[in-house]
Amino acid sequence: MKKVNVSICTGTTCYLMGAAHLLLLDEMLDPYLRDHVEIRGVHCLGFCNDETKGKAPFVQVDDQVITNANITKVLDTVREILETES
Ligand code: FES
Repeated sequence: MKKVNVSICTGTTCYLMGAAHLLLLDEMLDPYLRDHVEIRGVHCLGFCNDETKGKAPFVQVDDQVITNANITKVLDTVREILETES
């Protein structure tokens, strides 16, 4: 089964800007999404040093980078990817 990879940056900048909250994402997935999503915390993705990349926290969902990430944005992106692949 194809899974969507969600990489939550836990580097200092992202952590301070709200990534700690994002790590609760796992608990908020319904059973369908839980089977289709792989969540992991990663070290600094390197975006926080470049103002052109946008605002922390950063989450990477497959090859898409979400800036100023929150749980709603991440879930919307995951659903979009799953819908376009089904
Ligand atoms: S700390 Fe998250 S991109 Fe650097």
